[in-house]
Amino acid sequence: MASDSLSAPHAKPTAWARPAAPILLFDSGVGGLTVLDEVRKLLPQAPVIYAADTAGLPYGSKTEAQIAARVSGLLGRMTERFHPRLVCIACNTASTIALGMVREVLEVPIVGTVPAIKPAAAMTRTGVIGLLGTQATIRQAYVDRLEHEFAADKLLLRHGAPGLVDAAEAKLRGEPVDGSAITGAAEALRAMPGGERIDTVVLACTHFPLLEEELGRAFGPGVRFVHGAQGIARQIERLTTGQEWSRQVPDRALFTGAGNIPDAYRAMLTHFGLRGVERF
Ligand code: DGL
Repeated sequence: MASDSLSAPHAKPTAWARPAAPILLFDSGVGGLTVLDEVRKLLPQAPVIYAADTAGLPYGSKTEAQIAARVSGLLGRMTERFHPRLVCIACNTASTIALGMVREVLEVPIVGTVPAIKPAAAMTRTGVIGLLGTQATIRQAYVDRLEHEFAADKLLLRHGAPGLVDAAEAKLRGEPVDGSAITGAAEALRAMPGGERIDTVVLACTHFPLLEEELGRAFGPGVRFVHGAQGIARQIERLTTGQEWSRQVPDRALFTGAGNIPDAYRAMLTHFGLRGVERF
């Protein structure tokens, strides 16, 4: 689905990129892998570093100041160390809070991720849209602006669903998914005034498309889901048009924090083409 990726007007293409320069994808956890999946389809030859701020997970329950400090600090250090040709903040929470600030200080094109309210407004037939995000995302002025600009004549019902972040993380570790987090999120939206008429749900957290099947069952037939991953991948493709790619080392994943990286994580990362796994 198309997105209103917070990408354009400041993102400058890097025609000067070295062929081995990677794309750096950043999230608090495994959510950004949903974006990586789409990037792989369009740019299979692109070297990638996937960075997960697992020491800061979850972002959704943090303050704006905490999130902004983590995201700008980490991306500053990562850009210095890895010289990416482009950074994708594959996280709605981090993008809606810190994208402007990160763009101010980093001299690399930055593509962000914001709730796909625009395509949802074009899709809904009943005029009622549900939005599932983190608690931090749903209160952002950026979301108010998107609603005002693209869905002023619709009813947009927002719900913060932190349990879905945990459920998505568990699913990718191969653990059982907490069904009550899924049904709870659907029921919370349905219980809001007008919620029974929801026919379109914006998955405004990159973790949530990992649970689309489970959410589909919880909402029942007639509800469609929209998220930004494909639109973001297209934007990355546009911004790197004409550049050369050469993968000289295996793509890798970085995790913040200490301790051993569980084997279940390693297996899942290999599935996404990330063969190296390191602490950052
Ligand atoms: N994946 C993140 C997002 O898109 C947030 C998950 C979290 O850390 O709470 O918003």
